[in-house]
Amino acid sequence: MSFDFNGKKVLVTGAGKGIGRAIAIALNEAGCKVYALSRTKSTLDTLVAEHPKIVPILADVSNWDDTRRKLEDLEPLNGLVNNAGILGESCSAVDCPRDEIIKILDINLLGAINCAQLVAKKMIDAKVKGSIVNISSVAGIGACYSYLPYNVSKAGLDMVTKQFALELGPYQIRVNSVNPATVVTPMVTNLKNTAKGLTSQTPMGRVAKVEEVVWPVLYLLSDYSSMVTGQLHPVDGGLLSNIAVKYDFSK
Ligand SMILES: NC(=O)c1ccc[n+]([C@@H]2O[C@H](COP(=O)([O-])OP(=O)(O)OC[C@H]3O[C@@H](n4cnc5c(N)ncnc54)[C@H](OP(=O)(O)O)[C@@H]3O)[C@@H](O)[C@H]2O)c1
Repeated sequence: MSFDFNGKKVLVTGAGKGIGRAIAIALNEAGCKVYALSRTKSTLDTLVAEHPKIVPILADVSNWDDTRRKLEDLEPLNGLVNNAGILGESCSAVDCPRDEIIKILDINLLGAINCAQLVAKKMIDAKVKGSIVNISSVAGIGACYSYLPYNVSKAGLDMVTKQFALELGPYQIRVNSVNPATVVTPMVTNLKNTAKGLTSQTPMGRVAKVEEVVWPVLYLLSDYSSMVTGQLHPVDGGLLSNIAVKYDFSK
């Protein structure tokens, strides 16, 4: 699949591993200038060693002020991918501790709002027609067991998509969510039976490959989606179309 991002500049958060790393690499290979933000230096070091044109930014998006400081001198960008996110610990909704809820919301929700504010303001000032893609989850659309903070964070992120799309539309800045089901990345490799449980509920009978999330993201960043904004895009092999969705991730 080929996209042309020559002359474009995009910031990808959570670019050290998994989906974010794959998006950063695909954009770089499509001619884009990529700013890759992540919180662990070693993963950024290997990314830049493999792809020297990528510009690393070491930051933890849960640190609001520090992230602002690290992004404030960035040039105006054409795109942002809010991908940084963590799943957190498995816990029943009634037992989930406040600290765990705050920790997940700080990264998955407030971190994305902070980056979107910064990047969008620069787009508005420079009169750039931009695109922001929030990597949400099917868990933001339908409840699933054991991960209350994560699911709430992704539902909130989907409203961030709609709210920013509403307010940025007049500036020709588009905002969309991509909502994967299970994708094989370091985030999910420790979850027991996840693939088995979810594939049994998925019409297509399998989990997603990382590139099957990357392609929709590149489409949403590109001009091929120039009238698409404020939308959620499940990448789930039909999982959400199945009313029997019921799976306990913790088992
Ligand atoms: N994999 C799935 O099945 C799946 C399904 C639906 C949605 N998603 C979403 O897709 C996104 C990427 O997931 P993934 O599976 O690729 O995860 P991953 O393999 O764990 O990679 C996440 C990357 O984000 C970085 N990161 C985490 N917290 C950060 C923070 N506070 N500040 C900066 N960087 C941070 C991580 O850094 P470290 O190297 O320090 O950990 C890592 O490089 C997440 O938002 C996730 O919720 C994933």
